[in-house]
Amino acid sequence: MVFTIYGDHWRKMRRIMTVPFFTNKVVQQYRFGWEDETKRVVEDLKANPKAATEGTVLRRRLQLMMYNNLYRIMFDRRFESEDDPLFLKLKALNGERSKLAQSFDYNYGDFIPILRPFLKGYLKKCQELKDNRIKLFKDYFVDERRKLLGSPKSEQQKCAIDHILEAEKKGEINEDNVLYIVENINVAAIETTLWSVEWGVAELVNHPEIQKKLRHELDTVLGPGVQMTEPDTAKLPYLQAVIKETLRLRMAIPLLVPHMNLHDAKLGSYDIPAESKILVNAWFLANNPEKWKNPEEFRPERFMEEESKVEASGNDFRYLPFGTGRRSCPGIIIALPILGITLGRLVQNFDLLPPPGENKIDTTEKAGQFSMHIMKHSTVVCKPRKV
Ligand code: HEM
Repeated sequence: MVFTIYGDHWRKMRRIMTVPFFTNKVVQQYRFGWEDETKRVVEDLKANPKAATEGTVLRRRLQLMMYNNLYRIMFDRRFESEDDPLFLKLKALNGERSKLAQSFDYNYGDFIPILRPFLKGYLKKCQELKDNRIKLFKDYFVDERRKLLGSPKSEQQKCAIDHILEAEKKGEINEDNVLYIVENINVAAIETTLWSVEWGVAELVNHPEIQKKLRHELDTVLGPGVQMTEPDTAKLPYLQAVIKETLRLRMAIPLLVPHMNLHDAKLGSYDIPAESKILVNAWFLANNPEKWKNPEEFRPERFMEEESKVEASGNDFRYLPFGTGRRSCPGIIIALPILGITLGRLVQNFDLLPPPGENKIDTTEKAGQFSMHIMKHSTVVCKPRKV
């Protein structure tokens, strides 16, 4: 769906994906799973004494958590550990895709057509990787679920792919569409949310006073040691502000996804021919010094003070981390609670600190074709709190 041209096919795909993925019912069904995954992260960190002294590359464990959060929704499955062979295979193939999509080769041929013949090798690699990924999704996940659904004893709780397979059975979509839905979720949901969690952790480590203020909010609103759950988010304005500020300064998809005008259009004094590729610099809109007070500063308070009416859902054109309108991100309904539970529980349970001998973690950015993520997956010291 992500790169589909606006029209009947996109409308159908978006409709078919809504019930299984993008409703409040889904959040209420799966939030216990997300809370459980974060609990396991906390337990694993506490069981690793080095995490409290030398530190640990937190991202690796959070990546497993994010896969589990989404694979629970999709297939009612989870991976037990970072060494699970299937998880490793999946991570490697998705990682390879991400690398190819971020390479310069990705689109220079769009702009300099004469160079297109030189892309043959790159395109062959893309095709092979695509075939391997689709085969993995099919053999290990989709076909497994088909078998389960076909068995008379199946009393499993319905998961997202069951809804999608129902649509296939009714003839609304075909098998390729089913596999591309799985592919899209792997690309659009897991890494984007993971990058945002990683940025949030980095900013909290580098701004200890903000981390302390957030911890104070969690302790006073929930009571010390009471583990945060999804419905608590509504009572935690500072946590919400920390998330908004992370998504503003460290926007995961800074140029959104390329848009296309179907018809000739006029924008200001410019004529935009039909079918132009339009990139929206959403990062600049949210970091323009003429529109924001000291935009370079990580200051969650802005979302409780001068920008208190601004929401991530696109009610203000200066702040569009998930886009706006018909093509905006439907995953916002899942992403925001996962970000809240993860950052909330980490801050409740640990002092998050830079590694020994350093006073900050490195927040150099790395930009891909569409993404902006942290260059270095830093070591973070997670010192358990005595509650
Ligand atoms: C912090 C996490 C996330 C961020 C920052 C993010 C951001 C975005 C952005 C900027 C777009 C393009 C909007 C546009 O071009 O106007 C998008 C599209 C999309 N996102 Fe997300 N997203 C996140 C998480 C998720 C999750 C968790 C899911 C699914 C469970 C998801 C599914 C999608 C889909 C399917 C589209 C394409 C929508 C369409 O073309 O109609 N995203 N996302």
